[in-house]
Amino acid sequence: MHLNIPQQPPLEEVASKSSLRQRQQQSKTTDPGNSESDPAKKENKKKNSKPQRNGISVLDVIRVLVTLVLASCGMSYYMTSSESLLWGYRPWFSRVPVLMRFLQGPLVLTPEQLSLYNGTDTNLPIYLSVNGTVFDVSANPLVYGPGGHYNFFTGRDATRAFVTGCFQEDLTHDMRGVEDMFMPIDDEAELATLSSGEKKVRREQDRRMAKARVQKQVAHWANFFRDHKKYFEVGRVVGLEDEGEIRELCNSAIQQRPKRKDMEKKAKRKN
Ligand code: HEM
Repeated sequence: MHLNIPQQPPLEEVASKSSLRQRQQQSKTTDPGNSESDPAKKENKKKNSKPQRNGISVLDVIRVLVTLVLASCGMSYYMTSSESLLWGYRPWFSRVPVLMRFLQGPLVLTPEQLSLYNGTDTNLPIYLSVNGTVFDVSANPLVYGPGGHYNFFTGRDATRAFVTGCFQEDLTHDMRGVEDMFMPIDDEAELATLSSGEKKVRREQDRRMAKARVQKQVAHWANFFRDHKKYFEVGRVVGLEDEGEIRELCNSAIQQRPKRKDMEKKAKRKN
């Protein structure tokens, strides 16, 4: 008869297995790496498991930059009495009407269409035009709105008045003959000493310089509106045609004509 008695492992094997179990238990309690309960040790383990990196990381740089930007914005907000986070700088794309106009593309208006934008219709913006370029000046209704000091410039191209300063007579785009206001007044006695050829050459030179001054003045005003932090360019006015006869120079412009003697004195002082 065969008895099915389980075979006992040899005595040495049992001893070695129990000692192994004992060592494993011991290491669980003593090995810091195996401790799951102590958070400091856990953290330590995490740190030790990652490769050590020396120096400044990209994250450090980003942190410093973000801190500096936030500090600058805070200082600007405080210093500009809660007006600006960027020390008064307002990029064009942060201004909603400017951005909208940019997305819609430039406006092209006839003089009749432009005339609607003079501030009387409160649903429309206020526009004025200098040398055919239309600017939105709605941001300053006190000056350009109805009753404002410079309301007469709106809804039209009054480039001539920007040069002559004749705000009643010269509210037109017609610039013909306006350079006369910069033509020097000659001293009759001195003029008599010149030959007719010399007089002609001088006259031509004077006219060229006078036209350049007109252009400079026009560019000054166009740039004033273009670069202004509240106004912006919206498009062009088309179909501006010269009116019949060349206009007479208005009184204020005549009074501004320079005397040749004074011009020469000025030039000498400069040299
Ligand atoms: C060619 C002559 C002139 C032109 C084209 C002209 C044009 C202008 C314009 C376009 C503005 C508005 C600026 C803005 O949008 O902020 C302005 C403002 C002003 N201008 Fe003139 N100007 C002229 C002569 C004068 C003269 C001679 C005076 C003084 C008697 C004067 C007094 C003022 C004042 C006080 C302001 C401030 C805004 C206001 O209160 O209406 N301007 N000028």
